Amino acid sequence: MLCLTLTGNTLEKNTEYIELYHTMSDLCELRIDLLEQMNLQDIIAFSQQAQLPLILTCRRERDGGAYRRTDRTRTGQLNRLLREGTWAYVDLEEDFRRGELEQIARERNIRIIRSFHDMQRVPADLFSRIERIAAKGEIPKAAVTALNIRDALTLFSAEQQLAHIEKKIILAMGDYGVPRRILYRRTGSLLTYASPPGTSAAPGHLDIESMKHIYRSDQVNSQTNIYGIIGNPVLHTASPRIHNPAFHKVGINAIYVPFLVDDVRTFFTFADRLSVKGFSVTVPHKQQVLPYLGRITREVKQIGSCNTVVWEREYWKGINTDYYGFLRPILNLLDGERIKRAAVIGAGGAARAVVWALRNHQCSVVILNRTPQRAEELARQTGSSWAALDDTASISQVDLIVQTTSVGMAPDTDADPLPGYTFRGDEVVYELIYTPEMTAFMKRAKLSGCSLVPGKQMLLGQGIMQFETFTGLNYPFTEDTVVF
Ligand code: ATR
Repeated sequence: MLCLTLTGNTLEKNTEYIELYHTMSDLCELRIDLLEQMNLQDIIAFSQQAQLPLILTCRRERDGGAYRRTDRTRTGQLNRLLREGTWAYVDLEEDFRRGELEQIARERNIRIIRSFHDMQRVPADLFSRIERIAAKGEIPKAAVTALNIRDALTLFSAEQQLAHIEKKIILAMGDYGVPRRILYRRTGSLLTYASPPGTSAAPGHLDIESMKHIYRSDQVNSQTNIYGIIGNPVLHTASPRIHNPAFHKVGINAIYVPFLVDDVRTFFTFADRLSVKGFSVTVPHKQQVLPYLGRITREVKQIGSCNTVVWEREYWKGINTDYYGFLRPILNLLDGERIKRAAVIGAGGAARAVVWALRNHQCSVVILNRTPQRAEELARQTGSSWAALDDTASISQVDLIVQTTSVGMAPDTDADPLPGYTFRGDEVVYELIYTPEMTAFMKRAKLSGCSLVPGKQMLLGQGIMQFETFTGLNYPFTEDTVVF
């Protein structure tokens, strides 16, 4: 079940949230500790009119909530709400057994979710506590904190030990817990919580629209093929929006999840455990995955970095779709020899893929970089030439300029990576930055009449290639119809 946590500080706001999002949710959690005013009569009326089943929760500050009054006051308030309101569940903490509340819940057929929270770690006695609660006929809920990918792995392993407990909720707070929230049906959790878009009820909460429409978490089952992206950071990436809607469109049962990863080796164990079928790799892991791959393609070897890993029956295979994503928009121009000479600005990781792609297509390359030693090194390895960033005469004849540095990226959007260069107007200008979609450098090139290749094309191109590698199917959207 997808549970919308009502994060509004008034009942009016929460009514609005239910109206907006009830079609995406199976039930709602009313967090009365977040309300500005604790008017019990109004809360009772709200519970009676809500369109969805409700969980009643009053979370204390020490458990990550906002309730500051005494346990005695809380007991009195919950007592009345349980007696007079309409609730499907009530969430009571493990150390808050009151007898009277449990009795009212039983009498009124309100299921008890018995929760415990650890804002610091995954507690060592997690499993035994869950067992103890389940033995009492209550639904155990553990909200613990995953501090690294190993914690995330430990929690996934928990499922095997606790598989006999049919109804349980085990959540990991924080960014390492995001895959659990999305894959809640694979973790044996009764439900997952999500926030109204634009709000967040707990660390790592996703919004209900993403859960329902991007990830379709409630459709995941034991047959769903799991794909994802590893990186650090990773949660901001556009890739889930490239892949998930496409899986749905072509009608295959698969999901693509962002995995925050601090340790690549542990992630490979995690991937085995979860039967991950393939994943994208982003900063800073593109080199670190190499030792774990059973096969790599020529470009991965040349570039020394891999952005796509796919399971091939017995081993992980690594490819570099940045390479193909880059080539895709200009392949005709290269093959038709419209582009024979290129300048590449920058000598970092992205530049390596670009330079090798051009060199493998018989294009001569001159590399310009702020730090000349890096340009020189890359030039030596790839059979290119190099020049200082202000030596614009060295590129006066080129047909293509590829901009691979971060100069001009949001928020510093006025910055120009090559201020001393005057465009002739017949060069093709390829910008790798995609936020903003139009950089200062591109604007200047456009004014001179150059044709442009925006970074979004490469981003999409590499994503398309990943999709095709993962599924063996054509990507179902074009640049105009994809939304990300
Ligand atoms: P990526 O993988 O995105 O290429 P990277 O490997 O860190 O990232 O490379 C960043 C590139 O942007 C480098 O060429 C870097 O120049 P240096 O080698 O001199 O560091 C370039 N770059 C970053 N900030 C820059 C700036 N303010 N001015 C000029 N070049 C810059």
